[in-house]
Amino acid sequence: MKIVIASDHGGINLKRAIVEALVQKGVDITDFGPDSGESVDYPDYAKPVAEKVADGVFDRGILICGTGIGMSIAANKVKGIRCALVHDSFSAKATRQHNNSNMLAMGERVIGSGLANDIVDIWLNTEYEGGRHERRVCKIEE
Ligand code: RB5
Repeated sequence: MKIVIASDHGGINLKRAIVEALVQKGVDITDFGPDSGESVDYPDYAKPVAEKVADGVFDRGILICGTGIGMSIAANKVKGIRCALVHDSFSAKATRQHNNSNMLAMGERVIGSGLANDIVDIWLNTEYEGGRHERRVCKIEE
């Protein structure tokens, strides 16, 4: 599975922690930046990541900002993206099973790296259930 990740300045430390953990696990992850903590605008990072996931260049995308909210709002403007704002393990599992979310947003100012890494692991390793959920996901796409 090919993963792409990006952040803004408010999420760069958590992004680095997630990248480090995923690299250690042998996950194929590409970082779309930024590389420094200089102030940037989160839509400038959410858009290219979401477009690459929507185009199928990457299987899943992860976005980190201060709250995760701005990133999730921006990513969900791209057709084909189902970006879930998640700060707990239950939702990480449920959004894969029910929403087939292809992007995950989290906030560095909301949770610590331990919980965030657990969320990423659950989210990456939980299958979509399909069935009754497929009709609902199709309605989102329409
Ligand atoms: C940046 O200060 C902050 O607004 C951003 O990281 C994010 O929380 C927006 O939703």
